[in-house]
Amino acid sequence: MAFEYRNGSLHADAVDLNQLAHDYGTPLYVYSAQQIRANWKQFADHWPQPHQLCYAVKANSNLGVLHLLAQLGAGFDIVSGGELARVIAAGGKASATVFSGVGKSKEEIAYALEQGIGCFNVESAAELERINEIAAAKGVMAPVSFRVNPDVDAQTHPYIATGLKANKFGIAMQHAKTVIRRGAEMSHIHVKGVDCHIGSQILTTQPFLDAADRMLQLIADVRAEGIEITHLDMGGGVGIPYQQEKSPAVSEYLQALLAKAAQFDNLTLMLEPGRAIVGNAGVLLSKVEYYKPGEEKNFLLVDAGMNDLLRPALYQAYHQIVAVNEVPESSPSDRLVDVVGPVCETGDFFGHARHLSANQDDIIAILNAGAYGFTMSSNYNTRPRAAEVIVDGDQIHLVRQRERLADLWKGESIMGAKQ
Ligand code: LLP
Repeated sequence: MAFEYRNGSLHADAVDLNQLAHDYGTPLYVYSAQQIRANWKQFADHWPQPHQLCYAVKANSNLGVLHLLAQLGAGFDIVSGGELARVIAAGGKASATVFSGVGKSKEEIAYALEQGIGCFNVESAAELERINEIAAAKGVMAPVSFRVNPDVDAQTHPYIATGLKANKFGIAMQHAKTVIRRGAEMSHIHVKGVDCHIGSQILTTQPFLDAADRMLQLIADVRAEGIEITHLDMGGGVGIPYQQEKSPAVSEYLQALLAKAAQFDNLTLMLEPGRAIVGNAGVLLSKVEYYKPGEEKNFLLVDAGMNDLLRPALYQAYHQIVAVNEVPESSPSDRLVDVVGPVCETGDFFGHARHLSANQDDIIAILNAGAYGFTMSSNYNTRPRAAEVIVDGDQIHLVRQRERLADLWKGESIMGAKQ
């Protein structure tokens, strides 16, 4: 693993995290390039060409991370024009990018067509009409896949389950054929595939395989009508262990998918993993500001807040928290603390009732923070967003500078000021 104790302190690859916190300040996101490569390899090794992997940019969209993945041959899954611009700025190819998302604007569709997007993952009949019109106005064909809602229960947190009938995502299975037929008739739509994404942080492969069966049946039905569907994109969703959970065996999942698809001629498979590529490759470092003993609870107040890592506040997500200074096994801490941030919200916590040996000015690490960490951060309470560092062996790359205060009101003005 990339994050291990060596010589008394937690390291990322060969780099001491106490040293990084000292040199770059806190809160600080630290990513391990070696871990990202290893995670990518787990997928790529079992996914022979022409099958494709499109990394879900929303999990971690730092240019350094995207560049690293582009070098490994990744395609990308994006959900906004902004994410496409990031992919291009990081050296990724628009042609190897799929555009997901329920609410694509006219401007985003036009921009994606201009850049030569690989595929639009269409989520509604209305979106299909809009894409056709914009493509017609530009005199180009828009490559399209249909996001279908296979209505399987991914057994994950309700906020991140997306494949149920009650969710806003995708086209309902019973309407899918009608919308696909309509697409096949349109003058500027090139029907390429079907796709689904049933949710995130899924810990067993069964829901994915159930969804794959339903999607393959749809492909068989549509092909029987003479509409040539050439790819199936199964989305992302592979979970990682945050506590003691067992994550699904990626190789078994991929092999099972390949076996199912092998019954079809000329069918390329695609996946859009996010969390499984970057989740365990990142930590958030934070400094202890105060230890505050209380009547009912003791608090460890740290300098990172919910604006830096929102997952605990938003999903009651569990993240392991450790002291960067190694605690000798002979003297474990019996101090029980709630680890909380400085933001003015009761929901601003990272962990409740944790055993943690850390005192004022010590550095703690919140683990498995590489996915949906920085990308969900904000400036709430006018807090500058954290810096980000990628460690590669003994090399250190500052891939995002800490925001400065003046950055926070850039573009704002007082009433009546000349623009
Ligand atoms: N493809 C689509 C269409 C998606 O909506 C998502 C994630 C992915 C791929 C990547 O899924 P992954 O492999 O990372 O599970 N903020 C939440 C997670 C939201 C996921 C949204 N969609 C969290 O922090 O847990």
